[in-house]
Amino acid sequence: MKYNNIDFNHKTILITGGAGFIGSNLAFYFQNNYPDSHIVVFDCFRSGSKFDNGNLQSFGHYKNLIGFNGDVICGNINNKDDLALLNDYQFDYIFHQAAISDTRVYDQEAVMRTNVNSFYDLLEKAKNDKSVMVYASSAATYGSQPSPQKIGNENPENPYGFSKYAMDQIANRFSSQNPEMVIVGLRFFNVYGPGEYFKNKTSSMVIQLGHQILDGKVPRLFEQSDKILRDFIYIDDVIQANIKACSPRINGVFNVGTGLPRSFQDIADILQQELGTDLGTEYFSNPYQGYQMHTQADIVLSRENLNFDPVFSLEEGIKQYIPEIQKLHGEPIN
Ligand SMILES: NC(=O)c1ccc[n+]([C@@H]2O[C@H](COP(=O)([O-])OP(=O)(O)OC[C@H]3O[C@@H](n4cnc5c(N)ncnc54)[C@H](O)[C@@H]3O)[C@@H](O)[C@H]2O)c1
Repeated sequence: MKYNNIDFNHKTILITGGAGFIGSNLAFYFQNNYPDSHIVVFDCFRSGSKFDNGNLQSFGHYKNLIGFNGDVICGNINNKDDLALLNDYQFDYIFHQAAISDTRVYDQEAVMRTNVNSFYDLLEKAKNDKSVMVYASSAATYGSQPSPQKIGNENPENPYGFSKYAMDQIANRFSSQNPEMVIVGLRFFNVYGPGEYFKNKTSSMVIQLGHQILDGKVPRLFEQSDKILRDFIYIDDVIQANIKACSPRINGVFNVGTGLPRSFQDIADILQQELGTDLGTEYFSNPYQGYQMHTQADIVLSRENLNFDPVFSLEEGIKQYIPEIQKLHGEPIN
C-alpha cells in the first residue's frame, strides 16, 4: 500500500526504536513496499533491567524483526558513542520512535534523559544530513484536557507526557531556526495491532483482552467501561500518518487518532464476536484516581496539513488483528 508519491527506493531511512511496535511496522512497511530502500534500525533492544514499577526499561524484541533484511544496530540513544555509529550513514529520512514508551514510569530523570536529550542529537543529525525528521509525540501531552484534544491545549500529567511535550517545543524552535528542514511530530493516541505483544503489560487492551478470552476467562473491565472512551487507532493508519508526514503542507505537530472514540466495553464485545465466545464481562473497581474517561483526537489539522485519513474502524482493525492475536496466544513474552 503506497500512501503518496514519494519513492523511498534508494533512500536511506533511519528508524530509531525499530525493534519496538511502531518502529518494526515501519521497517517492514518500507521493506515490503520499497524493496530498494536502505533501512537502518537503531534500538537498544531489551535487557533484564526494570523500572520501579516492575516494567522493563525497553521493550525492543528481536522477534519483531524476524524477516527484516536491512541493517540493525544495537545502540542506546543516550550514548554518544552509540549515536556516532550513525555517522557512517547519510539519512534521507529519520523516523524517531525510540523512547521510554511506558506512561507509568515516574523516574523523571530517566524519562527526560532518554526521550528528550537524544532528540537534540537526532535533530542535529537530521540537519547535517538534510533528512526529513518525523518523530513520535503522544496524546499524553494533553493529560486530562477535555475532548476533543486539540493542538495548543496541552497539560501533561506525567513525566512521559511532559517529555513528549518538551520534544514538541524543541521541534518547534528547531523548525523556526531551520526553516528549510521538514520536521513533523505525530501525537499518537491509543495504537493497537501486530507488533505490540512484546510491550508486555503496556500493550493495548485489544491484545490483553483477546488473550484473556482465548484463555477461556471472562474479560475483566473497570466498572463503567461502557463510559470510558479512548481514541483507538490501528497500526496501519499510524504507518499512513508517518508516510504522509514526510511531505507535510507545513511543519508542526499533529494528532494521529481516528477522531471517533470507542469504549473499553466495545473492545471486549467486538473481540467476543470475532472469537465466537459469549463469556459476558466481569467488572472491578478502577484503582486509579483522576482516570482519563474520554480521549478523542481532533484531526482537522492532520487532515489539512498531512492529508491524513484514517480508514480502520475498531471493528475492522480488530478483525484484521485477530489471526495475530490467536497466533501469539501462549507465546513466551520475554
Ligand atoms: N503505542 C502507542 O499507543 C503510542 C502512543 C503514543 C506515543 N507513542 C510513541 O511512539 C513511539 C513508539 O512506541 P511503541 O508503541 O512502538 O513503543 P515500543 O516501546 O514498542 O518502542 C520503543 C522502542 O524504543 C526502544 N528504546 C527505548 N529506549 C531506548 C534507548 N535508550 N535507546 C535506543 N532504543 C531505545 C525500545 O527498545 C523499543 O524498541 C514511542 O516514542 C512512544 O512514546 C506510542
